[in-house]
Amino acid sequence: MNRDLPAHIAIIMDGNGRWAAERNLPRIAGHSAGVSAVRKVVEECARLKIPHLTLFAFSTENWNRPQEEVGGLMVLLDQYLKKELNTLMKNKVRLTTIGHLEDLPDNVQHTLRDVVKRSAGNEGLTLTLALSYSGRDDILKAVRGAARAVMRGDLSPDDIGPETFSSFLYTRGIPDPDLLIRTSGEQRISNFLLWQVAYTEFWVTDKLWPDFSSEDLHEAIETFRSRERRFGMTSEQVKGGKT
Ligand code: IPE
Ligand code: IPE
Ligand code: MG
Repeated sequence: MNRDLPAHIAIIMDGNGRWAAERNLPRIAGHSAGVSAVRKVVEECARLKIPHLTLFAFSTENWNRPQEEVGGLMVLLDQYLKKELNTLMKNKVRLTTIGHLEDLPDNVQHTLRDVVKRSAGNEGLTLTLALSYSGRDDILKAVRGAARAVMRGDLSPDDIGPETFSSFLYTRGIPDPDLLIRTSGEQRISNFLLWQVAYTEFWVTDKLWPDFSSEDLHEAIETFRSRERRFGMTSEQVKGGKT
């Protein structure tokens, strides 16, 4: 048993479209309902004193969706940030982002930068929104960053280990996720944090994201705490505390 609370929970929030389809509503109604689930989960993680929560909100591949849906999602994101600012501040949440921020509409970039700046001094939960994010792009960005440092003469290729490499990723300074939750029953990573999930515990629920509740979060955390993380060792080694 691992017993500790996860220091970093990452969530692939999936199933908004199916939630809407079940109700004969447009897909955007599902995304709108999904925002309420985000609110609840952020508050609960802050209350539980989880240090890091990363939410996959929009992938680079999601740009290929119908324009109307993409536009609606951008409006929802802008509204969420503006409406939530006070609550985020009250709960001492620090907002950060990962992904190609430059791809987002100017007004959304502006709102994001504002909330990131205002919440920078908060010392509670670090909430990271993955926006226009691709795990492969993250790795490629790190490769380019490391290559540039080598070309400048600031880094020797032989010194590029996991830690140095991680410092070139969008997620630099953020520990790897301990627990990855995916809703809507899909069992795939969909180009989320590829490098970072090397030893992350996965937990999948059939619940669609708008239906995800605090109880589901607690169930995921309890399951995580009951698992034995072996990191390649034997169970006996882990139990004996030997390394
Ligand atoms: C997740 O829900 C939200 C985003 C990807 C932005 P989906 O919109 O993918 O919902 P389904 O998978 O179509 O049900
Ligand atoms: C993953 O969900 C991206 C986000 C939750 C933002 P998708 O719905 O885009 O993933 P696939 O297409 O089912 O793999
Ligand atoms: Mg989906």
